[in-house]
Amino acid sequence: MTISQALKWAKDVLAESCERPLFEAELLLAYHLRKERLYLHMYVDETVEDEEGYKRLIARRAKHEPYEYIVGSASFYDIELDVEPGVLIPRPETEILIDKVAKIIEEEGITRIAEIGVGSGAISVVLARKFPQLHSIATDICDTPLKVAGKNIRKFGLEEQIELRKSNLIDQVPESVELVVSNPPYIAEEFILESNVVDYEPGEALFGGKVGDELLKQIIRDVSCRGIRYLACEMGYDQKAPIEAFVKEFEIEFIEFYQDLAGFDRGFVIKFKG
Ligand SMILES: C[S@@+](CC[C@H](N)C(=O)[O-])C[C@H]1O[C@@H](n2cnc3c(N)ncnc32)[C@H](O)[C@@H]1O
Repeated sequence: MTISQALKWAKDVLAESCERPLFEAELLLAYHLRKERLYLHMYVDETVEDEEGYKRLIARRAKHEPYEYIVGSASFYDIELDVEPGVLIPRPETEILIDKVAKIIEEEGITRIAEIGVGSGAISVVLARKFPQLHSIATDICDTPLKVAGKNIRKFGLEEQIELRKSNLIDQVPESVELVVSNPPYIAEEFILESNVVDYEPGEALFGGKVGDELLKQIIRDVSCRGIRYLACEMGYDQKAPIEAFVKEFEIEFIEFYQDLAGFDRGFVIKFKG
C-alpha cells in the first residue's frame, strides 16, 4: 500500500467517526512513520512500512479513541504534554484560565499557589514556565494524573517549582498559599457526553456530582475557610447563576466571571476579603 492509497483507505474508514477524516488519517500516518505531514505529500508513492500497524491506529481512532491517547501527547498552550488514559486531555479553554491567573500573579507579585486537580500538569507546568519564581503545590485525588504530571514536570525540569501531593482538594496542603487555581470536574452526572469523552476519559476528571457544581462549591468553601486571597476556577457554561448566588454567603471583595472564545460562561476569579 502506498502513502496515497493508505490515506484514501483511512479517510473512508474514519468518515463516520471524525469531523476531518483525511486530516486525522494524515496525522496518524505521520505519527506512524515518524515523519512530518509534509513528507506524506512529497512521497505519495512510497510504500507504507508496517501497514498493519497503521491499520491498528486507524481502527482505534474509528472507535472514537481520542487522537491524543493514541499518540500519547497533547498540544496545550506553547507545549506538548504527555497524556495517557486515566488523565484528562487538556482543553484549549483552560488556556484562558491560565491567562487570568497569570495576570493576578504578575500584578500581585504572587509566589505561592496551589492547584487542585493537576491532571496532566497542564496548568501548573505552564504557570511555572511563565514565572520562574513561582512555587506550586499541585494536588490530585487519583494516582495516574499524579504519575503523568510528574513525568511532564520532569520533562520541563520544573521539579523545584512544582510539588505534587495526593490529596482531596487542599486537605493535605497546610502551607500558606496566596492563590488557588482549579479546573475541577464540573459536569453533572447524568449529562450526556460524546463517546470519545465518556468512553475514554476518566470519570473522576469529568463529573462534579449530581448537579455538577458540588466540587466547585466545596473548593470555594475550603479556600475561604483557609483565608486564601484568590481563587480562580474553570466551570460549566450554565453554572454562573448558582455560583453567583452561592458566593453571597462569603466575605468577598469581588467575583468576576469570564467567557470562552465561543462566548459561553467558562470560569471565575474570586478575591476574598483579607
Ligand atoms: C478536569 S480535570 C483537570 C486536569 C488539569 N488540571 C487540566 O486542566 O487539564 C480534574 C482533575 O481533578 C482531579 N480530582 C477530582 N476530584 C478531586 C478531588 N476531590 N481532589 C483533588 N483532585 C480531584 C481529577 O482526578 C482530575 O485529574
